[in-house]
Order: sequence, then structure tokens, then C-alpha cells
Amino acid sequence: MKAILFDRFGGPEVLHEADVEVPRPGPGQVRLRVKAAGVNGLDGKIRSGAMEAAFPTPLPAVPGREVAGVVDALGEGVTGVTVGDEVLGWSDTGSYAEYALATTVAPKPADLGWQRAAALPVASETAERVLNLLGIAAGETVLMHGAAGGVGTLAVQFATARGARVIATAGPANQEYLVSLGATATPYGEGLVERVRALAPDGVDAVFDLAGKGALEDSIALRGGTERIVTIADFRAHQLGITFASSSQERSAVRLAAVAREAAAGELVTTVAAYPLDQAATAQQVSDAGHVRGKLVITLD
Ligand SMILES: NC(=O)c1ccc[n+]([C@@H]2O[C@H](COP(=O)([O-])OP(=O)(O)OC[C@H]3O[C@@H](n4cnc5c(N)ncnc54)[C@H](OP(=O)(O)O)[C@@H]3O)[C@@H](O)[C@H]2O)c1
Repeated sequence: MKAILFDRFGGPEVLHEADVEVPRPGPGQVRLRVKAAGVNGLDGKIRSGAMEAAFPTPLPAVPGREVAGVVDALGEGVTGVTVGDEVLGWSDTGSYAEYALATTVAPKPADLGWQRAAALPVASETAERVLNLLGIAAGETVLMHGAAGGVGTLAVQFATARGARVIATAGPANQEYLVSLGATATPYGEGLVERVRALAPDGVDAVFDLAGKGALEDSIALRGGTERIVTIADFRAHQLGITFASSSQERSAVRLAAVAREAAAGELVTTVAAYPLDQAATAQQVSDAGHVRGKLVITLD
């Protein structure tokens, strides 16, 4: 099968197409004929070697943590899924490939396109996990740093669905986008504390940092301490006494199925830009640059 591989750590140029063996599903795994694969910031961090301590990666490796595709083989002991099912989920073997193995998958509603389906697993699980960790409730105000990307697009909508008010930051090109998702938008950078105080004179109840671009000190100033501040991207968190929410292995097919139904019904906005498999390096280059709106996906259709 065709797959994107990297044999050494480095920039996007280390990614190349190769012919590799089709993986065989082990116990509890399904094999998918991949239709679309989500691109995550983490894919580039793993490819660069920067994540070796947290995610040791034997080389050569196929990038990609999430996938949408058609089940074409079942491992021992798999129940509730049959060959031919259209599903989305987390890939065990890398999803930038014609076939991938997966353990946790949810049914893809017929009305949900492949690209939008592949954009959901990582972003929805992360957004929901952090909102739960922060304990966001109706009537509260939550500040989100860098909310126009993959995780933020869903986090804004999940938080407003809980009845919270979201003040979210983005660059100039994404202010209107954040408003369209239901947030009060403001630019990041110099003067942020003053801008947020003007928008929320009674203060913010919680802060979700999705960008990891140096906004933790401002967050502490706005919260008056380190309580109810969570980052998913700023590795200085522990030094500052702030919670870093690490990637989780607690993946729920039931929750993912519910999110997929909401997306199919048009209740959840997802924004995707697609690249064919042979342009995976370009997709990661765009992702590495750090100004993605919504999600990037690799398509194999
Ligand atoms: N720990 C975990 O469990 C976990 C899970 C998933 C992702 N992550 C990490 O979380 C981060 C976000 O993931 P993602 O998929 O949402 O990323 P993404 O889609 O690449 O989005 C990144 C966003 O950051 C914004 N941004 C760029 N510079 C900024 C700045 N100086 N201040 C504030 N925002 C800025 C960009 O907005 P503009 O384009 O408007 O500048 C862009 O929308 C990544 O670092 C990813 O690796 C962690």
C-alpha cells in the first residue's frame, strides 16, 4: 500500500511516499481503507523528534493519529463492527496511508463527509476533556487563547453549548471566524489583559490555553492566581504552577459517535482544508506554521 513515511526526525521534507505492507489487524483492532486522515500539530512535533520523551517513535513511522474510512478486516474479538462499516476514530498505526489499524472507532453518519469526519476524533476529545477538567458551567466566562484552530473550533462551540460565555483570541484574519462560532473575539498579543478586562469587567472564571504561545502570565494576571487555568501546549506550565493537560488514551467511541451525529446534523461547525496524500509534507508545513483555521486533512478518495 501507499503510505507517507519518515525514516529520520526533521522538517516536513523528511516525509516521503513509500510502498509498505498492508497492516494486519491484531486482537481488538479493525483495519480501515482510509478515506481521510486528520493532521494535528502533534504530528509535526513527533516528526521533528521534539516529542521523543513523551511519545517515543520507532522509525520508520507513518504519521497521523486520527482517521475516517471503511472497515475492511477485523481482528480477533472485535464486536459491534462489521466489514463495510463507515467509521471514524483513532489510528494505532498512522493514518497517512491507504490502510490503517484502529481500536476505537465510531459509526460515521451517512450525512457526514469523510474530511469532516477525520477532523473530529482528536479535537473533540481534547476540547471536551479540558472543558471537563476546568469544570466549565452555564453562566461562566471562559477565556480561550488561540481558539481558531482544530481544537479551538470545537472548544468554543462545546463551551457555548454548556451556556458559558467564551472570550477567544486569534490573529486578525480569524476574528470574524471566532464570532461565527459564538465567541467574543479579541486579538492575541500586547495589551491582552486590558482588552479582556474591558470585555469581562467581572473577570474570567477559567482559562483554556490552546496555543502555547506565552499567554500563561497574562492568564494568571486575569485569574488572580493559577486556579482553573489549563494549557494543552505550553510546556512551561509546571514551572508556573499551571495544569498541563497531556494527551489522553481514554477514548470514547460513544462520545465520538454523538459528536459525529451533531456534526452531521449541522449542529457543530467544522472547517477543513484538504490535501491529497502526496502533499502530506505541505500539509504539515502549513500546520507547523501555526495559523491553521479549523483542521487540515489528508484525503485518499
Ligand atoms: N495536550 C493535548 O492533549 C493536546 C491535544 C491536541 C492538541 N494539542 C496541542 O494544542 C495546540 C493546538 O492544537 P490545534 O490542533 O488546535 O492547533 P492548530 O489547529 O494548529 O491551531 C493553532 C492556532 O493557534 C493560533 N495562534 C498562533 N499564534 C498564536 C499566538 N501567538 N497566540 C494565540 N494563538 C495563536 C492560530 O490562530 P491564528 O491563525 O488566528 O493566528 C491557530 O488557529 C497544538 O500545539 C497541539 O499540538 C495538545
